[in-house]
Amino acid sequence: MKLIIKYSNNSLSNQKLDAIIVFIFEDSGLTGSGLNSLPAALKKNLNTSLKLKVFTGKKDNCQQLFSGHANIPQILAVGVGKKSEMNSETLRRAAGKAGKMLTSLKAKKIGFAVTSHLQKTSETDVGQVLVEGLTLGSYKFNQYKESHDEKSKLESIKIQCCDPENITSRKALKTGKMRADGTNLARNLGNTPANDLKPKDLASAAENIAKQHKIDCTVLEEKQMKKLGMEMLLGVSRGSREPAKLILMEYFHQKAKQTVALVGKGVTFDSGGISLKPGKNMDEMKFDMCGAAAVLGAMKIIGQLNPQINVIGVIAATENLPGGDAQRPGDIVTAYNGKRVEILNTDAEGRLILGDALSYVVKEFKPNAVIDLATLTGACITALGHYASGAITNNDALMEQVRKASNLSGDRVWQLPSFPEYGESIKGKYGDLQNIGVGDSGTIIGGMFLEHFVDKTPWVHLDIAGTAWNVKHIGYQPNSGATGVGVRLLADLIQNWEPIK
Ligand code: BES
Ligand code: ZN
Ligand code: MN
Repeated sequence: MKLIIKYSNNSLSNQKLDAIIVFIFEDSGLTGSGLNSLPAALKKNLNTSLKLKVFTGKKDNCQQLFSGHANIPQILAVGVGKKSEMNSETLRRAAGKAGKMLTSLKAKKIGFAVTSHLQKTSETDVGQVLVEGLTLGSYKFNQYKESHDEKSKLESIKIQCCDPENITSRKALKTGKMRADGTNLARNLGNTPANDLKPKDLASAAENIAKQHKIDCTVLEEKQMKKLGMEMLLGVSRGSREPAKLILMEYFHQKAKQTVALVGKGVTFDSGGISLKPGKNMDEMKFDMCGAAAVLGAMKIIGQLNPQINVIGVIAATENLPGGDAQRPGDIVTAYNGKRVEILNTDAEGRLILGDALSYVVKEFKPNAVIDLATLTGACITALGHYASGAITNNDALMEQVRKASNLSGDRVWQLPSFPEYGESIKGKYGDLQNIGVGDSGTIIGGMFLEHFVDKTPWVHLDIAGTAWNVKHIGYQPNSGATGVGVRLLADLIQNWEPIK
């Protein structure tokens, strides 16, 4: 389904529409909802449903109503909770909830109004937030359903944003749509099964985005990686017939003062390799490329935002399979930066491929900062569940910027400590390092392994194992499948970049 977003300065009540969406607070009813100009029939209907508590205005309460009014026959009443507790994230979630219900309305033309009651509560433009939420919420992955092909051609919904008070703008709506589309791109890549999304497909996705948005794209092949000495990445790839790809996307701005690298884990399927995973839920390891998807989605948005900064998007793409030539536990490989690494568990593959990608980008591009995103450890789900990505850093100022972007986007991150003692257990017995530690705190250990590959470059590692798929109870997230985590976070980080030393 396609959403077509339209902007107008007219009031909502002058429109002929199949349905309208109204955002209503739990504690102020219709009076405080900026909907005074609605036709009387609609207001009466809304008031009755409030009185009867068919609709309450509470967060997550979303109700389809019929108005009996010819020009606007349906109302989608969306609760936003208490007025005092409202911010852009609650608004985004409410819009997301509405987005989920769009198809059940059986409406082709739907309107909503941006009125001043919504404005003060949001640090980001409300129009942007609402369109972002609506577009994210209406996302569905049904490419593999029988009925998809004919249906997708027909289904489009026009969304009319009415802005008589000049609160938002056409541009803000466009930005909201663009941010959601970037996120939905990442969701699509994540949801695509591993038989249809190989490392080479991540490379073509990158090339497509690059072509559309004036970004340079280079794909390093295994032959080149071998020359460069990337044995950690190649070691993982050996167990699969599909060749690994190291994908480099370069966005340059003439007035850029700094360069930021975004590095994503692109394991298109993680079986564990010789250290084979158990069968239960192994299908979910098609999502092990969601870090890569986040980088791709973000680069697509960055290419359109045109920020005054250079951004290098890097994706280490491979499968982790136990083929006849797969690497074995006990193997010792030499990383791109020269460190010798003993592979004690072939299922700790993310840190291996990212280690080579990180040290390469640090050496080749000398970025002022690096962010990596990876579905790195199951332990991160144990630590933080599904409502925050885990962060490990070597630089507090950069972490603070990531935190700000997290607050803006609603894409939550939570820092974990990296006290030196945690890193002791990955010191190598036979080599310099080993790819797993002993004992608990697996997420921290995984992050600290990566730290060995960034030199002194300011760096934040985001473990998105818990946030990349199957996140429930967030209005704009699908009930199952990939979330597109990281995309809007990175977009906000880059857009609001403050140079760091
Ligand atoms: N991709 C997995 C991490 C993962 C597992 C993410 C389940 C989400 C759900 C990663 O490659 C992995 O296998 N990590 C191991 C590390 C361990 C061997 C030190 C893990 O978490 O078990
Ligand atoms: Zn993995
Ligand atoms: Mn693994």
